[in-house]
Amino acid sequence: MADRNQITLGEIKAPLESEMSAYEHFLREALHSDTPYFDDILKYIFDTRGKGVRPILVMLFAGMHNKAPKFGGRIHLAASLIELIHTASLVHDDVIDRADIRHGKSSVNQKWGKRNAILTGDFILSRIFEMGMESLEFDILTYVSHTIKWLCEGEVIQDEQTHTLGMTHEKYYDIIDKKTASLLAISCGVGALAAGASTADVDKAYEFGRNIGMAFQIKDDILDYAAADQTGKPTCADLREHKITLPLLEAMAGMDAEEESRVRALVGKTTTEEGAIEELSQIVATRNGMAKAEEIMNSYLREAHALLSTYPESPYRHSLELMCDFLAQRKH
Ligand code: IPE
Ligand code: IPE
Ligand code: MG
Ligand code: MG
Ligand code: MG
Repeated sequence: MADRNQITLGEIKAPLESEMSAYEHFLREALHSDTPYFDDILKYIFDTRGKGVRPILVMLFAGMHNKAPKFGGRIHLAASLIELIHTASLVHDDVIDRADIRHGKSSVNQKWGKRNAILTGDFILSRIFEMGMESLEFDILTYVSHTIKWLCEGEVIQDEQTHTLGMTHEKYYDIIDKKTASLLAISCGVGALAAGASTADVDKAYEFGRNIGMAFQIKDDILDYAAADQTGKPTCADLREHKITLPLLEAMAGMDAEEESRVRALVGKTTTEEGAIEELSQIVATRNGMAKAEEIMNSYLREAHALLSTYPESPYRHSLELMCDFLAQRKH
C-alpha cells in the first residue's frame, strides 16, 4: 500500500471532475418533495450529506470500462441510486441505533422524530424505484435492488446478536458482509454494468467492492470508539446498543471462558451500569483490539489491491488505489 500522508477525496475524485455535477443534479432531483415540510427534511439531508464514497466508486468503475469520452446518463443514474440506498439506510439506521447525531449535526430522528425519519427513509426508497422505473434502465435497477434486501438481513441478524450477546467472528463477518460490504460491492459492479462491461467484469468489480466493503465496516467499527467531534457520530454507539464488534472480539480472543463471559455480560449492561463503557474501552485498548482489527482490515485491502493490479493502468485505477489507502486512513 502506498505510504502517503492523508489522501483526500478531492484527489480521488480528480478524474471525475466533469461528471460530479451531473451526478449531484440527479441526487438533488431525487431528494425533493412537493410537500414543503417533507422537502425541508430532504434538503437538510442533501445539505449535510457525507463523503459520497459509493457514487465515487460507481463512477471510477464506470470510467475503467467506459468507451466514450464522456459518461452517459446511465452512469449518473447508477451513482445516484446507490447514494440514495445508502442515504435511506442511514436515516433508518439512526432510528434503529437511537443515534442523535449524524455528520456532526442532529440526526433526522433527533430533529423531526422517529416517525418522520422512518417515512423519510421510505420516501427515499420509493424515489429509487420511481427513478429507476422511469429511466427504463431495468438492468441497473434490478442489479442495485438486491442490496436493499441484504442490508435488512444484516441488520436483523445483528439485532438478534445484541439480545443474546453471543457474537462470534463468523457471525460478525456475515453481518458486515450483508449490511455494508454488499452495497460497496454493488456500487463497483453497477459502475461496470452501467458502462457496458461483460458479466465477468461486473463480477470482478463486485469482488473488489466486497473486499473494500468489509474493510470499510471494520474501520467504521474501530472509529466507533473515537470521539464524536472527530467522527460526527456518537462515541461508543455500538457498545451502548450492546453490539460486540471486531475490536472487542479480538480483545476477547485470548481470554479464558470465565473472563470472556464476564465481558459479554458487561456489554449487556452498558446502559444500566455506570463505568461499563469505560471498562470495555479499556479492555479493548490494553488487549490491542484496535490494532488486531486494523490488521484484518488491511488483509481485505491487500486483496482489493491485488485485484486492481489486474486492470490496465489508468487515472481511474490510480484513484481506486488511492481509495483503498483513504479507507484505511480515514478519521470519519
Ligand atoms: C456509514 O457509511 C455507514 C456504514 C456503512 C458504516 P459512510 O461513512 O460512507 O457514510 P457517510 O460518508 O457519512 O455518508
Ligand atoms: C452501518 O452500520 C450499516 C448501515 C447499513 C447503515 P452502523 O450502524 O455502524 O453505521 P453508523 O456507524 O451509524 O454510520
Ligand atoms: Mg446500525
Ligand atoms: Mg448506526
Ligand atoms: Mg458504526
